[in-house]
Amino acid sequence: METMIKTFTIEKAKTSKIHDVDFENLSFGSIFTDHMLVCDYVNGAWQVPKIVPYQPLTLDPSAKIFHYGQSIFEGMKAYKDEAGDAWLFRPMENYKRMNISAKRLAMPELPEAYFMEGLVALLQLDSDWIPQTAGSSLYVRPFMFASGTGFHASPADAYKFVIALAPSGSYFSGKVKVLIEQKYSRAANGGVGYAKAGGNYAGQFYPTQLATEKGYSQVIWTDDNEHEYIEEAGAMNVFVRIDDTLITAPANDRILDGITRKSILEIAKDEGIPTEVRKISVTEVVEAAKNGSLKEMFGAGTAAVVSPIAAFGYKGTDYDLPELENSYASRMKKRITDIQYNRAEDKFGWRYKV
Ligand code: PLP
Ligand code: COI
Repeated sequence: METMIKTFTIEKAKTSKIHDVDFENLSFGSIFTDHMLVCDYVNGAWQVPKIVPYQPLTLDPSAKIFHYGQSIFEGMKAYKDEAGDAWLFRPMENYKRMNISAKRLAMPELPEAYFMEGLVALLQLDSDWIPQTAGSSLYVRPFMFASGTGFHASPADAYKFVIALAPSGSYFSGKVKVLIEQKYSRAANGGVGYAKAGGNYAGQFYPTQLATEKGYSQVIWTDDNEHEYIEEAGAMNVFVRIDDTLITAPANDRILDGITRKSILEIAKDEGIPTEVRKISVTEVVEAAKNGSLKEMFGAGTAAVVSPIAAFGYKGTDYDLPELENSYASRMKKRITDIQYNRAEDKFGWRYKV
């Protein structure tokens, strides 16, 4: 049975920071709104969520998050339309994925009402922070971590669920050039790759740093066994267009099952674009780049939206991708953002009024 929130405490910030924000020049996820939601799990139960002024969290040095990394998160965005109404995009998918991640990290699952009602109440309170400038939105970061204490390497007995909000512009600045990874791995069979676990990102930072030093903005992860099949990028799923077919790797236990990815697959089908969900070998992509049938590569994710890939590096060679008029990437980006910003009909029922 679904748990409903009985009382919902809201402590408002005494002053707002909003007037210090330059909404015309937003970076990604670096300034935060006036409020946040906090919900504690203690004595085997989730307590009633509280909305409080945005503030630091205080933790015991033995909190298990610091030692054993029980930490998961989600990412979504709130959009404002021309009339000033606020919208989310498929938030229930984020809720479900959060609990999938929680289960894999031996953390308690969160009741739907705590996530959804908490999210909506917080967004309503901070709705002035949802940017109306083109290409900007309010990035929503729900996260959960082990606040319970002790050095015993076992799941904590206390957790915190928090939602923080950050008015944000684009995730990438400039062209996206990716490196197809041949040494390091992001995930392995039976591992936590499909969970949105903080550790998955920590493990990516060093190989990504090496790639950044060579001028790439993201790594494209390949399978950990042979480094031959394309899996996903650091913060987005990957699509490849060979001739007119749009191809993406199947979601498995090494890949984050992206909400943007599955939305694009549906939109592509709706547009009559041939799609294939199958293993994509690097050999095939390199061959296609050489013979000219590789038309596009792009990344898809909440933060990245749809980001065309300008070039990829593989074994010391860079392969440039053509710049196409009316590319699949631009068509997918338009269809998806038109739904998100309430500029077009939403035949799939993905928009969610705040
Ligand atoms: N893959 C990774 C590793 C990600 O961090 C993200 C971003 O959330 C995605 C894929 C795309 O997922 P979604 O479209 O649900 O944001
Ligand atoms: C998102 O797109 O929401 C993500 O979580 C990616 C993140 C690493 C910025």
